[in-house]
Formats: sequence, C-alpha cells, structure tokens
Amino acid sequence: MKGIILAGGSGTRLSPSTDSMNKHLLAVYDKPMIYYPLSVLMLGGIKEIMIISTAQDRPRFEELLGDGSELGITIVYEEQHEPKGIPEALLIGESFVGDDDVTLILGDNIFYGQGFTSLFRKALQNNEYATVFGYRVKDPERFGVVEFDDGMNVLSLEEKPSEPKSDFAVTGLYIYDQQAAKFARKLSFSDRGELEITDVNKQYLKKNQLKVQLLGRGFAWMDAGTHDALFEASEFVKNIQDRQGFKLACLEEIAFYMGYISKEMLQKKGNDMKKTDYGQYLLEIASRKHNRQYWDDINQHPVLGLVNNE
Ligand code: G1P
Repeated sequence: MKGIILAGGSGTRLSPSTDSMNKHLLAVYDKPMIYYPLSVLMLGGIKEIMIISTAQDRPRFEELLGDGSELGITIVYEEQHEPKGIPEALLIGESFVGDDDVTLILGDNIFYGQGFTSLFRKALQNNEYATVFGYRVKDPERFGVVEFDDGMNVLSLEEKPSEPKSDFAVTGLYIYDQQAAKFARKLSFSDRGELEITDVNKQYLKKNQLKVQLLGRGFAWMDAGTHDALFEASEFVKNIQDRQGFKLACLEEIAFYMGYISKEMLQKKGNDMKKTDYGQYLLEIASRKHNRQYWDDINQHPVLGLVNNE
C-alpha cells in the first residue's frame, strides 16, 4: 500500500495568509497542517508516501520532512502545476504507486477519535476495490455527499449538491485498488473547472465496488480550508492536548510506537527542539518506562514497535 498526500492548490480561501505560504504548512495549533494527514497514513502502517504540492512550495515540504528517514519512512515529492482537482494526484502518482493499492488523503483533512486507528487499519486490510469514509455534517452541500437506502447500501454520490440527499459527507481519505488511475484518466472537467474525486468514486459505485465506512459520533473530522475552520481546528487540538497531555499527530511519537525509530532518534529530535513544548514532549516520551499493555490500552490499538525500549 502506497500513500499520497495532496497538498497543492492555491489556498485562495485563506488569503492573505496563503499569499506566500502553502496552506498545508500553516500551523494547526502547534504543528504544520500536513502533520495531521501524514500521521493518519503512518498510523495505518503506510511507509511509502508521496507528497504532492506546487513547484514553488515543494522545497519547503522537503525542508520540513526530508526523505522521511528521521521518521523511519520514505517520503518522495511531486508537483501539481495547476490546481486541476484531486484525481490528478492519482495520475501524478501513477508510476510511484505501480501495481500497489493507494491511500489518498487531502492535506487539510484532520481525523481524530478513539478507535480511529483500528478502524482505518481494518479498512486498509479489508479493502477489495475502493473504500471511502462517510461522516455526518451540518453542511453537506460543501462536500461530496453519499446517499444510502434503508439497508445502508450506497445509492448515489454527488459533489457539492445544492440539495443534498443525505447529511453524510465523503471525507478526504480514499483507499483505492489499481483501477483508480485508469478511472481518473477518463474524467472530464466539472462546472467548477476541476476533475472531481467524486467522479472517480462514482465509477467504483457503478461497478458495485465502492465501500463506504461510516465514522460515528465519537469521531472528529475537520478540514481546515477556511479561516474559521482553521481556527476551530486549532482550538480543538489545543483543548484535547491540554486536557489529556497527549499530542495529536506527533509524528516522532507515532514513529517510535510503530517501531520505526529508536529511542535515541526520539531523544535526538526532542533535543533539537528542546526549547519548545513539542520537543519537551518527545523527551518525556523517551524517558518513560513503557508498559506495552498500558500503551495498547491507551491507544486503543496495538502499539507495534517500542524499539530498544523493552
Ligand atoms: C473535496 C472533495 C469533496 C470532499 C472534500 C473533503 O472538496 O471534492 O468530495 O467531501 O474534499 O474535504 P474540496 O476540498 O475540493 O472543496
């Protein structure tokens, strides 16, 4: 399974904050936005990841995350020259994905909730053709919308309908088999001048190959695409972190618990940032005496690694 994060776009809805800065590098409270989707892929166990941004922004992402080796993963970079829509990511990443399946995640999507990692890992394991995630929202007309029958079978998909047939949005996390790029190639531009990911999903639906996994009321899903949404996402992250003392989307913590990096690497990263709360958090994890059962319970999914730590 390969992973792609789409972090392109012009971010016009966040101007002037994004006039000289890629939206996905803006902070959601205490870390760059892209950490959140990257953490999702890492928690799913996906270790080969492509980040797609604009030519202008690519060096900044490379500076931030490098080749991924400090997180025990591989990150490669590609460019989307014009914001032509989400499915273009499948074409840009086609040779990188090769014969594998791919999980595509949008760079401004934040997922959080007890049990999310287990649910996502199961979805990855059980995916046959395509799996997307449905989430009830108050403003479905802003999103791709999925309609179900009484037996929760998918009836239709629509992109930003003015009269939504349900309250369920399709989130920006998509698991696809090898057909995805082929489907993306067949698309034509929508009225808003973009290739639509909903049209890729519709092709799977037509073949009866689309699974919609619902995320229930215990989950938070946010996209941080407007000033209000960005502010609310930051507040949400701050509230959870302050209350529990756990950080969301702390990539080094995840890498450590997945067994991708050693305690020494965790300590090194903590020391590099030791003047910050983030760095202190890494040092605190490195100094903990770990009890596997405790960590499995608290994370609600098996901690896979704990390198050099038992
Ligand atoms: C895109 C997709 C939409 C999906 C949403 C999730 O919308 O087109 O189907 O529900 O992401 O964030 P956009 O970001 O283009 O408004």
